[in-house]
Amino acid sequence: MDQKTRVTREGIRLYAPEDFAGMHKAGRLAAEILDRVIPLVVPGATTGEIDHAIETMVTEAGATSATIGYKGYQHASCISINHVVCHGIPSDKKLKDGDILNIDVTVIVDGWFGDTSRMYVAGKLPRKSERLIDVTYEALMRGIEAAKPGNTFGDIGFAIQSFVEKNRMSVVRDFCGHGLGQVFHAPPNVLHYGRPGTGPVLQEGMFFTIEPMVNIGRPETKVLADDWTAVTRDKSLSAQFEHSIGITPDGCEVFTQSPLGRFHPTYG
Ligand code: MF3
Ligand code: CO
Ligand code: CO
Repeated sequence: MDQKTRVTREGIRLYAPEDFAGMHKAGRLAAEILDRVIPLVVPGATTGEIDHAIETMVTEAGATSATIGYKGYQHASCISINHVVCHGIPSDKKLKDGDILNIDVTVIVDGWFGDTSRMYVAGKLPRKSERLIDVTYEALMRGIEAAKPGNTFGDIGFAIQSFVEKNRMSVVRDFCGHGLGQVFHAPPNVLHYGRPGTGPVLQEGMFFTIEPMVNIGRPETKVLADDWTAVTRDKSLSAQFEHSIGITPDGCEVFTQSPLGRFHPTYG
């Protein structure tokens, strides 16, 4: 590294304009894998089979899974069904008609991390699940709209929380987004709730995820005995969407856009 690495006083790294290309490449691969998973999500399929297909796609692309070996995690994806909030472990459990699920993939390409997740449905999408998915998707989009220089991380959290609560759903507090780039999880914690004008000021060159988890019921979660699977305490349905983004002089670029335009399961 010939140029000095720039870091804010909150410990947030500011990447250079030429670093965006590496993030676009990693983000595009993660998003393309999520596109290619769409036909595999059908009633009767197991989450283990889907994960195995994802692992093969990562390997065949010449990339590395960021999650295999991460804190002892052994899979190329997290697959979180219905009331599972996040970090669901792929298994031989079969999908049922009407199940909704989040699939979260993180890949490393040339040292850059691409992290994205989105919602899928097995079979026919139930009405109330559709509403949850729509609110969660829109919450992420409002967070992304608030991601521009001069705004703060609190503005992003407020944009998400106020929209979700106006729709009488709740934002999970126990998990957050994160800085990423040449590392998987870096400062800051990107909270999906907050007050306008609070938190670090957004600056050009910050790379981070926004990944709100929204519950139909109460926000509390608990982690199961496997030490990974987080579920809603009240067993209510939960949804999540995640993009990796980079702050530009006038807004942000999304690194994990779906090449097929299929990020939302029913739009487009
Ligand atoms: N991809 C997840 C995130 O959005 C992290 C998964 S870590 C794992 O930050 F070990 F559970 F895979
Ligand atoms: Co993430
Ligand atoms: Co993720």
